[in-house]
Amino acid sequence: MAADIEYDRYDRIRPIRWTGTALELLDQRQLPFTVEYLSCSSSDDVAAAIHALAVRGAPAIGIAAAWGAVLAARDVDAGDGATAAAEIESALQRLNAARPTAVNLAWALARMRRALAGAGSDWREVLEREARAIETEDLAANRRMGEMGASLIAAGSGVLTHCNTGSLATAGFGTALGVIRAGVAQGRIDKVFAGETRPWMQGSRLTVWELQQDGIDATLIADAAASHLMKSGQVDWVVVGADRICANGDVANKIGTYQLAITARHHGKKFMVAAPSSTVDMDTASGDLIEIEERDPGELLGVSGSRTVAEGIQAWNPVFDVTPAELIDAIVTEKGIVERPDAERMKAVFGA
Ligand code: MRU
Repeated sequence: MAADIEYDRYDRIRPIRWTGTALELLDQRQLPFTVEYLSCSSSDDVAAAIHALAVRGAPAIGIAAAWGAVLAARDVDAGDGATAAAEIESALQRLNAARPTAVNLAWALARMRRALAGAGSDWREVLEREARAIETEDLAANRRMGEMGASLIAAGSGVLTHCNTGSLATAGFGTALGVIRAGVAQGRIDKVFAGETRPWMQGSRLTVWELQQDGIDATLIADAAASHLMKSGQVDWVVVGADRICANGDVANKIGTYQLAITARHHGKKFMVAAPSSTVDMDTASGDLIEIEERDPGELLGVSGSRTVAEGIQAWNPVFDVTPAELIDAIVTEKGIVERPDAERMKAVFGA
């Protein structure tokens, strides 16, 4: 199946570029009208970029943090990895604190720590190699998941996606959007709908732009139109990504995912979560233990920087929610597909 997918056509955007001395991030705050890379020359620059959503999406923030660790070590003078690790620990903690919900951030930093701990005098090369490996493994996982997820979708299907889970959110190709790319390339998906994903508008600013780069037609809907769309019969699958998948199969993802899962079940539509195994957190038993990021209510009080809400109005802005495992038909990872996830089926694929 992989041979069917022309990756040159379907995988061209790269949100993260390592120059050898700096990390360049495609500044997602400025898309779709300005395509500009933000240069980070320190780990604190990277932490600030992650917090401000210049780089976003669970896998992408893990990869950026890994390169941030390389930057943190740039001026460190140490004879071995363990000494270097101690020197950069506070910088790693600042990277880790940039956003709380996506486990990929802590996962990538834990990998960087482990690589350093075992390294000798060549620790600098080891650290850089590990960051590169995290990035290339993510791309390979996405391409694999794309095929695996698409294989569940029958020819002639319509899909709805949420947030942005594409190349912009990963090392490339995307998770849920990778499934959609593969499904379109293989002729399984005829119709793609994307929700605008208020309040940050990842769907309208990023997802439909990404698909346009590939020549894939996508139809934007208001988030509030999802139930009506499902009732109209134009959608067979809802396909989304994840920020953290718990040991019992509960999934944290962009706010609004939970209500999509509820309405999909009500209308007899299938619900798929596609994510690399770096998003699986077998140490968190269930979704109620996940810290849900709450961002500045100001994100809700206006559109594109212009205030649309009367002064003095309060807003609450949780930016993720948890979809319970029982509403999910399939969790697709590069390690395997967990259908109708629960603790036992998760353990069978991901171990204890
Ligand atoms: O706040 P964001 O834009 O970082 O949220 C992103 C999402 O919720 C994505 O769906 C998730 O990270 C998966 S991206 C492959």
